[in-house]
Amino acid sequence: MAEALFSDLNELARFGADKTGGISRTAFSPAFVEAQGWLLQRMAEAGLAVRIDAAGNVIGRHGPQGPAVVSASHIDTVPNGGAFDGALGVIAGLEAFRRLKARGHVFDRAIEIIAFADEEGEYFSLFGSRAMLGLVTPEEIAAALGGKGQSLTEALREAGLDPTKVAHARRSKRDFHAYVELHIEQGPVLERLGRAVGIVTNIVGIEVTEFAFTGRPDHSGTTPLDMRQDALRAAIEFCKACYDLARAADPALRLNFGALSITPKALNVVPGRVVLQQELRHPDPAILSAVAQESWRMAEGCASRLGVSAQWKTLSRDEPAAMDREMQALLHSCAEGLGIEVHDLASGAGHDAQLFATACPTGMVFVQSTGGRSHCPEESSPPEAISQAVAVLTEGLARLTRA
Ligand code: HGY
Ligand code: MN
Ligand code: MN
Repeated sequence: MAEALFSDLNELARFGADKTGGISRTAFSPAFVEAQGWLLQRMAEAGLAVRIDAAGNVIGRHGPQGPAVVSASHIDTVPNGGAFDGALGVIAGLEAFRRLKARGHVFDRAIEIIAFADEEGEYFSLFGSRAMLGLVTPEEIAAALGGKGQSLTEALREAGLDPTKVAHARRSKRDFHAYVELHIEQGPVLERLGRAVGIVTNIVGIEVTEFAFTGRPDHSGTTPLDMRQDALRAAIEFCKACYDLARAADPALRLNFGALSITPKALNVVPGRVVLQQELRHPDPAILSAVAQESWRMAEGCASRLGVSAQWKTLSRDEPAAMDREMQALLHSCAEGLGIEVHDLASGAGHDAQLFATACPTGMVFVQSTGGRSHCPEESSPPEAISQAVAVLTEGLARLTRA
């Protein structure tokens, strides 16, 4: 039975495979759209009624009218990412459906296997699930830009979607009976404990802020240090101050910087303007907000000491989410029935599940990550761990789709 699971995973990994051994299947890219076509076909072959909604989510449904049990994740990747992040959860849901059908399971409740669009935030973090839950506005869609500067609007059009109709993807919370997502852990906890499978207790909150430091371009050779208004020096001192804060703060805090741009790009010009993005993660929303506000103050301070001005704007915020206790208990009971020892853990990664937790009882099953690595070509999980987690998911979906 597991052959279809692993051969589908290998097939899906072909879309966006790049020269370095990684996968670049970013949302709405040609590779992503091709992969969606392949997934639609695999879902249809399994007997699911398939469609792509107005936000680009791939949906396969089987069973009676009424609220559905959703097993979902995403098939978009980060640039040069791995073959398992998101993809495993979608293929696992499809495999679970195939297994339930093969054993004659009666679906008293409908099941939906969903691959959400742009979970990774190439354009907008958790875009597809936000659109399905009515949590994205036309203004946010119009303002969203991809890593290469392309607008979400253009990307949607190139993928054959109408950006003015994304709101048509919105569904009522009453459409959903429960939500389960299987996902790789993307961290070292399960491997260190020798556990193949984890049950997620809660998901971290993520706040992304764009900072702009504006100084004055000058000749780099003739302008003494104390005469400069060096935007890059202000940005560097700001980042250092944030890392010092993170080191001293709660060990659960995660800080990252990226998407840094310097203008003008000439090395013999004192940087006039620097724009960068800061990502903060924490399970407690109040701490997340407090660190964000302290960051704003530090940006102001580092800039003004150097005659530079600082501006900032929050680009996105995904609230932390607790997984439903009854769903956790159900997944524990499934694992126990299968003789699989599991470990409870928090997720340091964001997931579509954290939005669905606001709509219906939501749970997650984690699979051990080899070396704790993810978002890189080395991303992988032991096949035995994958098989055990898919067995837990299958049992969970069996129970949830039974009246
Ligand atoms: O960034 C994350 O945590 C997820 O992979 N989107
Ligand atoms: Mn993911
Ligand atoms: Mn990811």
